[in-house]
Amino acid sequence: MIDKIWDRTQDENWDAVDAFISEQFLESDPALTATLAASEAAGMPPIQVAPLQGKLLMMLASVMGARKILEIGTLGGYSTICLARGLSEDGHLITLDHHAAYAEIARDNIANAGLADKVEIRVGKALDTLPRLEAEGAGPFDFVFIDADKPNTPDYFDWAVNLARPGSLIVVDNVVREGAVLATESENPNVKGLREFYARAAADPRVTATAFQTVGDKGHDGLAIVLVTGKP
Ligand code: SAH
Ligand code: DHB
Ligand code: MG
Repeated sequence: MIDKIWDRTQDENWDAVDAFISEQFLESDPALTATLAASEAAGMPPIQVAPLQGKLLMMLASVMGARKILEIGTLGGYSTICLARGLSEDGHLITLDHHAAYAEIARDNIANAGLADKVEIRVGKALDTLPRLEAEGAGPFDFVFIDADKPNTPDYFDWAVNLARPGSLIVVDNVVREGAVLATESENPNVKGLREFYARAAADPRVTATAFQTVGDKGHDGLAIVLVTGKP
């Protein structure tokens, strides 16, 4: 887990508003509920995206008509299911995780959501499996979701851009972490990874980016959304 180097700034209104919005906009979702239960039972840390953010992933994939999605960091498959629901009819999602036991659970959760034929899980360290995807010519991916080990986020970002095309979206989770991103002198590898991601995304002429802060059920964090505009 990322070190809490800043005081957690939690406001009870955040949770209440999150709950209110969820009540308005989220329907009962047996497949996602079962995914959470199975993930918890398997002893996974509860670090999947929040339900409203999962829905955002689905909507972004859907609005762009994504046919090929790449996810880095599967866990129990919660965000995988959200993303795969946004795939076009003939779409395909590849998700990467180095934890074989997690992949087993995720496979069951994804099958239970009726998405087994659209989703492929590749087990291995992402910095090993990404070059294989490139060698296979698996891309270009329309949408990449980066949500694995934070020290490698800058390298995952570079891989994502290389495996993308102009018009692709790259979404990066956990880009605020209670404001840890501001810790300029931090030696914490998670914080350094996060800051290096911003530096690379800002300097990369092939992309344009935004990010927003999120509060609620998962505390204070944020998502970056990077649009690939073209190769220089
Ligand atoms: N995207 C998921 C949460 C992912 S949690 C969701 O929102 O539902 C982060 C995941 O990254 C964990 O499952 C962990 O096993 C995986 N991970 C960590 N280091 C990794 C690495 N080097 N290569 C591949 N996966 C890694
Ligand atoms: C952590 C990782 C995540 O991807 C996340 O969404 C929340 C927390 C963590 O390692 O603490
Ligand atoms: Mg995350």
